Amino acid sequence: MRSTKAIIDLAALRHNLNTIKTIASGSRVMAVVKADAYGHGLVQVAKALTDGADMFAVATVQEALLLRKAEIKTPILLLEGIFNAKDLELVVEHDLQVVLHHWPQIEALQNFSTDKKIQVWVKLDSGMNRLGFALQDLALIESTLSKIPSLANPIRLMSHFASADDPEDEFSTTQLEAFDQATKNIATEKSMANSAGILTQKGAHYDWVRPGLLLYGCSPLIDNDASEYGLKPVMSLESQVLAIKPIKKGESTGYGRHWFADRDTNLGLVAIGYGDGYPRHARNSTPVWLNGRIVPLVGRVSMDMLAVDLGPDCQDAVGDRVVLWGKELPAESVAPFADTIPYTLFCGVTRRVRFYYKNKSNEM
Ligand SMILES: Cc1ncc(COP(=O)(O)O)c(C=O)c1O
Repeated sequence: MRSTKAIIDLAALRHNLNTIKTIASGSRVMAVVKADAYGHGLVQVAKALTDGADMFAVATVQEALLLRKAEIKTPILLLEGIFNAKDLELVVEHDLQVVLHHWPQIEALQNFSTDKKIQVWVKLDSGMNRLGFALQDLALIESTLSKIPSLANPIRLMSHFASADDPEDEFSTTQLEAFDQATKNIATEKSMANSAGILTQKGAHYDWVRPGLLLYGCSPLIDNDASEYGLKPVMSLESQVLAIKPIKKGESTGYGRHWFADRDTNLGLVAIGYGDGYPRHARNSTPVWLNGRIVPLVGRVSMDMLAVDLGPDCQDAVGDRVVLWGKELPAESVAPFADTIPYTLFCGVTRRVRFYYKNKSNEM
């Protein structure tokens, strides 16, 4: 059987959560598990984190319902709030917390009646110009929300960084100061820091931090590896050598003939391709791990396989284990070769890949 697989190490996941708690020691942790826990498996990841995470954050009601169906009782925040008024019934039924980022969501709440109390988080736009209310509207929003009986009191506040992944970019400080200034007189729980903010903006930890990528053992920072913070990769994407083929100097491999051998060498054909989520646009020289060394990707990635240059004197054999990213090869060092970020590598792994979960119990 083809051995292309993703191994998800739940002990590494729990270790990363504990490491984040040490970095942001004064804050509670909202574990971001949207998009199928960044491709790692929503329910499995959430179950592994229930003992440690103070809240889960998802993007859609559907994701929240999957968690509740799995009997996860931890508080859940909908990061984009409701998409239509009907969602409010599910919010109440499943005890979800909601972000409010624009007026139609507030209007939906004004027209909704329930005897339960809904916890809302007002999202403020501190400069990213994506979701969120203008900072100067906060007083009006507060007074409007104070008249809605179904809301828990006090409302909570949050914002989001645009470029905290680049520690050189001073815009994060600008955003933090703007958020701080606009909210300093409001005594409530606040949240601003995503993974990059957790690492680079200590002043933004507030009451709640919202790590996504860090949980999965990967650094969001440019030119930086998560091991520097003691974090461990959670996903290992692996396959095997499917065939070994000698090739002469001047010959090419793969569709479009994008690589030519500069010496007689051996190609290793690896059983993984874009049909499994490996990025098709990964360039020549993208690192691949095999038998304790890095071998370069050569030629175009196909749907079911890719080629690596094993060198003229290789000792490798058909069936040998290959790591595309994982403990032996951080996703951070693969992503730039495909002009992308580790987030898309993780989210892109397709359903054809078999997932294995190890260290399910709470022992490390
Ligand atoms: C509002 C919000 N908070 C936190 C996160 C987590 O981001 P990261 O994975 O960079 O930690 C995201 C992810 O996109 C987000 O949209």
